[in-house]
Amino acid sequence: MIDLVKQLVACDGPSGHERVVRDMVRQMAAPYADELRVDRLGNLIVRKGKKAANGLRVMLSAHLDEIGLIATHVDEHGFVRVSNLGVVHAPYCLGQRIRFLNGVQGVVGHEIEGFTGEKITLDKLFVDVGAASPEDCPVQVGDAAVFQGSFQEVDGRWTGKALDDRVCVALLLETLRQLKDSPHEVYFVFTVLEEVGRKGARAAAYGIDPDVGIALDATATGDTPKGRKMAVALGNGPAIKVKDAGIIAYPGLVQAMEAAAAQLNLPVQREILMRGATDASMIQTARAGVPSGGISIPMRYVHSPVEMVDAQDVHQAMTLLLHILENSIQL
Ligand code: CO
Ligand code: ZN
Repeated sequence: MIDLVKQLVACDGPSGHERVVRDMVRQMAAPYADELRVDRLGNLIVRKGKKAANGLRVMLSAHLDEIGLIATHVDEHGFVRVSNLGVVHAPYCLGQRIRFLNGVQGVVGHEIEGFTGEKITLDKLFVDVGAASPEDCPVQVGDAAVFQGSFQEVDGRWTGKALDDRVCVALLLETLRQLKDSPHEVYFVFTVLEEVGRKGARAAAYGIDPDVGIALDATATGDTPKGRKMAVALGNGPAIKVKDAGIIAYPGLVQAMEAAAAQLNLPVQREILMRGATDASMIQTARAGVPSGGISIPMRYVHSPVEMVDAQDVHQAMTLLLHILENSIQL
C-alpha cells in the first residue's frame, strides 16, 4: 500500500481542484468496479456487489481533497497574499515551499518582527514567487496552492503532506481490490470538498441513499508533548469513531465495529475528537437519515506539511473494514 500512498500524495488536489487525484483513482479503481461514475460535483462513486438478502447498501467515503492556500491578491511588489482552503494553521506555513496548481513554486515569507510573541496569522504571511510587480507575477487571484512536503517512510511511519486523506483513499482502493464475497452493495465514494465543509459527501449520500455510512479519515492523537487531551495514540490500532464535532456515531455501528475487531483479535481505540468532523456527519443526515460512523487513522501533525501515520494502523484498519464488509452487519 505504501507505493499507492506515495503516488497519491504526489498529486496536488486542494479542495475544488480534485481532478488530477480523481483521474488517478478512477484509473486504479476501474478494473475492480461493477459500476463507476463521477457525479456533478466531482465525487467518484464506485460500486461493487449487489445487495443480498442479508446485505445492506453501504457507503464508504474517503476524501480526495487536501488543505491548501488560495491567492487573494498580489501586492505592489509582486508578493502573493493568500487565504486558506480548509483549516490551515499559519505557523505551519512559515518557512515552507508551496506549489501553485499552474506549477509556480513559492516560498512563504512573513512580516513578523523578531518573532517576539506576535501571533502568526495568514494575513501576515506572503508568498515569494520571484516577481517584482503585479504585472510580473505568474499567479492570479484565485489560484490555489498546496504544501510541498514530500513523502518519506521513517521506521514504519509514513510522513508527508496530504496523508489526510490520501492514506484512506489508498485504503479504500486496496479494500476494493481485495473484497471478495460480500452480501452488501458497497459504494466506495471518493469525495470532493471535504476540507471546506464536507459538501461532496452530502451530495453523494443523497444520490446513493445508503443503509449505513462509514467515513474513512484521519483523526488527531494525544500522544505528543503537551498535546491534546485525547485517548488516541499513534500505533495503537485504528480508531473507531464514537464522537467528533459533527457526529455521535450510531451506537449499533460502533458495537458492530468493536465486535469485528474482537473477532479478529485486532487492537482498536475509541475516538472522541473534540474539534473537527468528517464526511460521516453529512452521510448521517442525508435524506431521512443514515446510521453512520467512522474508522479513523491516528495522525500526528494533521493539516501540516508533514503529517505522520503508523503503517500498521493503516493495514489493521483495512483488515477491519474487509471483515465488516464480508459479513452481515447487525445495527
Ligand atoms: Co483534514
Ligand atoms: Zn480528512
